[in-house]
Amino acid sequence: MDSVSALLDSIADVGRDATRGGYSRGVYTSAELTLRTWFEEEARRRGLAFETDRNGILWGWWDAGSGGRTGSLVTGSHVDSVPGGGAYDGPLGVASAFAAVDILRERGIRPNRALAVAVFPEEEGSRFGVPCLGSRLLTGAIDADAARNLTDADGLTFAEASRAAGIDPAHLGRDDDTLRTIGDFVELHVEQGRGLIDLDSAVAVGSTILGHGRWRLSVSGQGNHAGTTLMADRADPMIAAAQIVLAIRNAARAEDGARATVGRLQPVPGGTNVIASRVDLWLDVRHADDAVTAALVERIHGQAQKAAAFEGCSVSLTMESQSGTVSFDPALQRTLRNSLKGAPLLPTGAGHDAGVLAGVLPTAMLFIRNPTGVSHSPEEFVERDDADAGATALADVLEDLL
Ligand code: GLV
Ligand code: MN
Ligand code: MN
Repeated sequence: MDSVSALLDSIADVGRDATRGGYSRGVYTSAELTLRTWFEEEARRRGLAFETDRNGILWGWWDAGSGGRTGSLVTGSHVDSVPGGGAYDGPLGVASAFAAVDILRERGIRPNRALAVAVFPEEEGSRFGVPCLGSRLLTGAIDADAARNLTDADGLTFAEASRAAGIDPAHLGRDDDTLRTIGDFVELHVEQGRGLIDLDSAVAVGSTILGHGRWRLSVSGQGNHAGTTLMADRADPMIAAAQIVLAIRNAARAEDGARATVGRLQPVPGGTNVIASRVDLWLDVRHADDAVTAALVERIHGQAQKAAAFEGCSVSLTMESQSGTVSFDPALQRTLRNSLKGAPLLPTGAGHDAGVLAGVLPTAMLFIRNPTGVSHSPEEFVERDDADAGATALADVLEDLL
């Protein structure tokens, strides 16, 4: 039997990013493929039947004696990361799922319905732009053609990257056969804020996921020479982009409960002595009320148009993904809280595959304390004792649900 920490230690060298710090494990990059192989080996080592479905979701099945896989209990998470991310966002849920299987076996549990550990591809959307791409494909929340045509920073399509990873892109899309196998889904995840520090608890049961979406703003101007173009003669989209970033911060501050972020900005062509011809910036907006998010994005668009026009530039806005606020299944929440006597309820501002699956089947989440309160950063952390407490909590929950 492996502890969660031992499992995480075994992948601690995979995808380290010497430039950014932390881990860069983009979906279907060599780092993420190594982790997918690790998952297969850990599944097989436990005698779980390993499978890859047509959307690239990995499965390790602990089949019950009879009754097939319809309505099974599924747990798991993802192994891809944001650029320069931490070691726990995703892998903690997968390692804890294996540890929970070990604990259940030690307890002599014989499941009377099948139990599976799953890994969803491109949860972060850090390579192809759309988060939770695997679960969106599985549930039909994204059109298969739209997914196939997504491109990464090098212009490679998701279809091409899938094919290179051994997944036939022709078969991507809503998968009712696989959906029927999932009766309930429970995802364990590192907490990505300070909620559990403040509650002085190692484990919480998830209550809600904040609505969130991504938009791309493309600001176009006149590419030109940094030395020969007089300041008065410029249509520099970088200046407009700078004004837009500030306008976004101010607009979000003026809206109670809103969060808006520009974490990625790309000048084209991107040279020190080149006035950019275009600047793309990606906007992440979150609010509990989807109508407020829509109004806030519209306001930001209007301010971006003004800022662009003032600099002799133009701007276009494209929505790349959107996910409404999710409340996890109340009955499942109650079951989890009964299993984990006294575990607090906790909302999250982060997105998860459990949130996408919540649209079509009962899902729940467990959050594990992060003593730094920091995530999407190398500083994300989980103490060994808390990781063990999390695996035990997951085993308790799975045992009761089985
Ligand atoms: C994923 O962690 C997200 O919330 O964007
Ligand atoms: Mn995650
Ligand atoms: Mn994340």
